[in-house]
Amino acid sequence: MDSLEKFIYLKDSPSEQLFLKWSEFLKQKKFNLSHFEKIDFTAPSPVIYDSAGNKFSIDFNENKLNYHKKKGSIKTELLSRAMGAGKAGNRILDLSAGLAIDAIFLSQLGYEVTALERNPLIYLALENAWEKLDKPMSLKFIFSSALDFLQTSQAEFEVIYFDPMFPEKIKSALPRQEMVLFRHLVGDDIDAGEVLQAAVKYKNVQRVVVKRPIKAPILGLKPHSQVQGKLIRFDLYGAQK
Ligand SMILES: C[S@@+](CC[C@H](N)C(=O)[O-])C[C@H]1O[C@@H](n2cnc3c(N)ncnc32)[C@H](O)[C@@H]1O
Repeated sequence: MDSLEKFIYLKDSPSEQLFLKWSEFLKQKKFNLSHFEKIDFTAPSPVIYDSAGNKFSIDFNENKLNYHKKKGSIKTELLSRAMGAGKAGNRILDLSAGLAIDAIFLSQLGYEVTALERNPLIYLALENAWEKLDKPMSLKFIFSSALDFLQTSQAEFEVIYFDPMFPEKIKSALPRQEMVLFRHLVGDDIDAGEVLQAAVKYKNVQRVVVKRPIKAPILGLKPHSQVQGKLIRFDLYGAQK
């Protein structure tokens, strides 16, 4: 954490514990913090600031990111249809947790969700938000790149869900300031095509669902079918052996 100038935490308090945990993990993962100005651990969820004053945090209990979607809403119906409305199976592997809006949503629909995130700072923010949640839902986060996980895991999933970053996402769930920082953190997910190739070959998977902006090109492979909304679509792939 040498390159980060300031951490805000209170000595001998939970915020210091959190600071120690985060700094150890980031050091272990050799995460480059030079772009960031400070992390405030005294806030209800740690707030990450960059040098341009943009900030970012994840808190599932706040509804500003629309974590609590209503059953029967258009968005719920679209995603639910894309996942096969439970017919393909109940175990979902989300390869791109991000802010976990989709992962939380899917677990609220009753799916058993395992969500991967490869960015250390986003993973820490997710894990922290998850620990503070009252959780009857079945959801867990794993720090891993999708390719590593798909190549090494023995776990079984009927559905794989993938929502890679797209350079010009039309509409974002995040306020502008936070989106700037999130984009900087994540980049453009340039390995997305390769990830999809590995996902469709994953053992015993029934369906792979890729979320794309409505006008975005397909991710290399031709989907078997699509579920289309106004701004986004889901490209559906069957298993390929
Ligand atoms: C567009 S966001 C996903 C948003 C998410 N669906 C949501 O509802 O909040 C993409 C996220 O997935 C992560 N990601 C993208 N490709 C990945 C990969 N190959 N392995 C692991 N994480 C990945 C990025 O770091 C980023 O946090």
